[in-house]
Amino acid sequence: MRQISDRRDLPIGVFDSGVGGISVLREAMAVLPGERFLFYGDTANAPYGEKPADLIRNLTLRATGELIARGVKALLVACNTATAAGISELRSRYDIPVLGMEPALKPAMANQPGYVVVMATPATLHLDKFCTLLSRFHDADRVFPLPCPGLARLIETGGPGSAVVADALRSFLSSISVVPRAIVLGCTHYSFIAQDIAALMPGTAIYDGNRGTALHLRHTLERGGLLCERPALSPRAAFLSSDGSANTQALWERFTLMDSPTIPKADPGDFSWGCFSV
Ligand code: DGL
Repeated sequence: MRQISDRRDLPIGVFDSGVGGISVLREAMAVLPGERFLFYGDTANAPYGEKPADLIRNLTLRATGELIARGVKALLVACNTATAAGISELRSRYDIPVLGMEPALKPAMANQPGYVVVMATPATLHLDKFCTLLSRFHDADRVFPLPCPGLARLIETGGPGSAVVADALRSFLSSISVVPRAIVLGCTHYSFIAQDIAALMPGTAIYDGNRGTALHLRHTLERGGLLCERPALSPRAAFLSSDGSANTQALWERFTLMDSPTIPKADPGDFSWGCFSV
C-alpha cells in the first residue's frame, strides 16, 4: 500500500530564468499525466544568457535550492544556459534525478545531411558543454553556432508573432553565410517562436529538445521507481518566481495557455495561479 509520505507523490521541480521553461513544462505535463510540477522562474535575474558563467552558476544553485527546499522528487533544469553553467554541480549536490537541456543536435545531424544552425544564448554557445557536444560529431564542421543576444527578452516582451521578434530574427539569420538544412533551438524560450523562424526560413527543419527531454524524464522516473501513473488531480502545476509581480503572473498565464503548433496544449484547470515570490 502507498503511504502519504511516498516519494512518488512529491512534485517535479522545473526551473528556468523565465517563460522558456514553460514550453518544457507543457511537454512534460503531456508526457507525464500522473505527475505534479512546481515551476520556478528566476524572473528577478533574467535573462541569464548574456551573464558570466560564474554568475549563472550561482543564480542556478540559488534558484534550484528553492525548489529542493520545498521537496521535489526530481529536478528538471528547463534552461540550456543554466544547464551549461551548473548541471555538474547540481548533480553532485543533490541525490535526486537532475535533468538538464542541451541543443538537440543529435537528431538534426542524423536526419539532415546539410548545414545545421544552432540558435542559443551567447553563454550556452561559449561554455565548454557545447564544445563537448560538438566533439561527439565527426562532421561538426557543418554546425553553425548562432548566438542570439537579447532574443529571450524580446520573446517575453514582444511575444511570438510580434514585429520586434521578426526584426531581431531577420537580423540574426541574415548573418548565416550558408543555406541551412536544419535549425536547432538551443534555448527553451525559442520554442515559442518556432513558427516565426519557420516563416523566415521556409523548408528548413526545426528541432528543439523538449520532447526528448520529457521522455528522458519519464524513463528516469520509471527506472528510479518514482513514476506516478494514475492521472493526477488538478491543479497539477504551481508557480514560484523570484520577483512575484503581477506582471510575471500575467506573462506566465499567457505563455502557459498560448496556442502553438509545436508545444502541447495545456488545460487552464491544470494550473494553480497566484504565483508567490521567494
Ligand atoms: N531559456 C533559457 C535557455 O534555454 C534562458 C534564456 C535566458 O535567460 O537568457 O537558455
